[in-house]
Amino acid sequence: MKQIKIEGGHELTGEIKISGAKNSAVALVPASLLSDGVVTIDNIPNISDIDALNEILEYLGAMVSREGETMKIDSSTIVNKEIPEKISKRLRASYYFMSALLGKYRHVEMYFPGGCSIGARPIDQTLKGFRALGATVKEEGNKFTIDADELIGGHVYLDMPSVGATINTILVAVRAKGTTILENAAKEPEIVNIATFLNNMGAKIRGAGTSTIRIIGVDHLKDSFTEVIPDRIETGTYMIAGALAGNQLKITNVIPDHVESLTLKLKEMGCPITIGEDSITISRGKHLKPVNIKTLGYPGFPTDLQQPLTTLLTYCEGTSILEETIYENRFQNVPYLNQMGADIIIDKRKIFVKGPTTLHGEKVTATDLRAGACLVLAGLVAEGTTTIMDVEHVLRGYENIIGKLSNVGAKIKMEEI
Ligand code: EPU
Repeated sequence: MKQIKIEGGHELTGEIKISGAKNSAVALVPASLLSDGVVTIDNIPNISDIDALNEILEYLGAMVSREGETMKIDSSTIVNKEIPEKISKRLRASYYFMSALLGKYRHVEMYFPGGCSIGARPIDQTLKGFRALGATVKEEGNKFTIDADELIGGHVYLDMPSVGATINTILVAVRAKGTTILENAAKEPEIVNIATFLNNMGAKIRGAGTSTIRIIGVDHLKDSFTEVIPDRIETGTYMIAGALAGNQLKITNVIPDHVESLTLKLKEMGCPITIGEDSITISRGKHLKPVNIKTLGYPGFPTDLQQPLTTLLTYCEGTSILEETIYENRFQNVPYLNQMGADIIIDKRKIFVKGPTTLHGEKVTATDLRAGACLVLAGLVAEGTTTIMDVEHVLRGYENIIGKLSNVGAKIKMEEI
């Protein structure tokens, strides 16, 4: 087990370079199976979720090499066999193997995926996509056996714009016969990244990034290269760090458009921000104004940033209201912030954050990835020392968080306990 210790109150100044996006990379890696050749993916983040996917690829018999940020995957040697539950439950993205294997081999056996425990997270929309293309799904407890004599393009209307169901439907449709129309699709930039990768392999996907995606099936997909887009949630997390403790903190290798919903909120609060072509510079704001926020699918305010932002809301002068519309259990960071001195009330899907309060160091627990990020941010500004337990959650999604924050002046270390 690992814990993070942070001595609060140190100014952050200098540069932080953003890594490749977790939620893109975790789909690009399984998507590579659809190719009949060798694929190369650059800007792969060094996070434990990628290690877990690597393990699945190697378990299936793929040849994988990883050098620095570059991953090469040759899946010509794959044997399509059941993926054991103990591997699939390590992360949510394991279910991208469900669609990639089904799309390529017309048969897959695997278990319900894992992921942060932030809500029920059913996979009914993904299964609806599979069925619409002609697959039959047998469910026995947690196990899914999915077969299709033939996959034939179909019409899929998602009940909600689910990121996972959008990607899974694309992955299963690219090698189906005929055309699939996917409506009410999610519009996240990660989906565009995956569609571009598949199109480089020879797929015919149009409309990714809009709510209607059209996929014309092809027989084969060839060698391909792609680069993972910068992680907009990591970017946002360090922007919030800058708003809390920064002095001209420059965040580089970013796509500013992807974090616009956060940038606008930070400006509304009164944080000094300068937007460059591929960088954002931010300093600590004084007399921050409270704001109201509602999480939504892209381009709305991302649910993945609401927990990190809550730390900043405790410094605003007045009451901020934050509503979480995507997940039913994503306020597990709140009791810990209150333990550190915040004044936050939870009322169903909303929190009321009364500020300003002064945070002090405590021993707290990262219950999930973004709750952990929230507590790291709190530790940076709290008086005294904050100890965060269960930080394995944080390492799933933030590459070298200790090194990146230390380089800009934070007093932060990780210990094995
Ligand atoms: N939903 C259903 N049925 C489905 C699919 C989704 O009811 O079949 C519901 C979910 O329960 C949730 C909502 O729809 O309430 C949205 O879920 P979505 O499918 O969009 O989320 P996801 O694909 O499981 C990805 C990210 C999450 C991020 C969400 C929303 C990955 C691996 N995960 O999850 O990232 O919060 O999209 O943007 O891409 C994180 O990085 O911390 C994280 C949780």
